[in-house]
Amino acid sequence: MAYAVEVLEDRAGIVGRALALILERIKAKAGEPFTLVLAGGSTPKPLYEALAQESLDWSNLHVFWGDERFVPPTDPQSNEGMVRQAWLSRVNFPEAHIHPMGTGFASPEEAATNYQAHLAAFFAMEPPLLPSFDLVLLGMGDDGHTASLFPLTGALTVTDRWVTVGQKDDQPRLTLTYPILNNAKQILFLVSGSNKNQALRAVHAPVGDSNLYPSRLIQGNVLWLIDRDAYGSGIT
Ligand code: 6PG
Repeated sequence: MAYAVEVLEDRAGIVGRALALILERIKAKAGEPFTLVLAGGSTPKPLYEALAQESLDWSNLHVFWGDERFVPPTDPQSNEGMVRQAWLSRVNFPEAHIHPMGTGFASPEEAATNYQAHLAAFFAMEPPLLPSFDLVLLGMGDDGHTASLFPLTGALTVTDRWVTVGQKDDQPRLTLTYPILNNAKQILFLVSGSNKNQALRAVHAPVGDSNLYPSRLIQGNVLWLIDRDAYGSGIT
């Protein structure tokens, strides 16, 4: 259980630091499968674009998603579509190592069950066991949500499954649940922008309500990469 905060000059600084950390960890595990969970949203997009510039042997890397909007991958809202456009379609990445949260199902619940089964097959285990991803990338909304674990939603209380249905207003989302996120070997939060400062203070406060600020649920080996705008005059 390690917890650290690094303040970088700006979003480019966050991207550069995250890229170095990801490459360092992939190389440290050379020759073995490396499981990387990707975040959606805008902050990590330049990181995916930077990864596309790396001439790496991608053959050991497996990418998964921490959350997904319940839309087709062709939809501009799709996290899968965003990552494929920014990175995966630009390099020789084995399609079998891309593990999107399939949304081609009649309901988000069915899609969540399908992804759970996909993960169970990949890791050859079932709940109550928990797989341990090598690295999880997370963003944080200005309301303190992460992945699609939004304030005051049922997804925050799900601990018996690895994948559940999140809710952003009236929009259903797929999300990994906090226990599987926390079981990662390393979690990297990427947080940029002054609009995140209030939520950062609430998330990092010694006492607080994780139902209101779900990023408080994320515990374990966590490194926060925060830019100066987001850090403001401090977060603790
Ligand atoms: C998503 C993300 C979401 C994101 C935060 C922060 O699907 O949108 O998974 O949790 O990380 O909303 O988004 P920004 O990085 O765009 O601020």
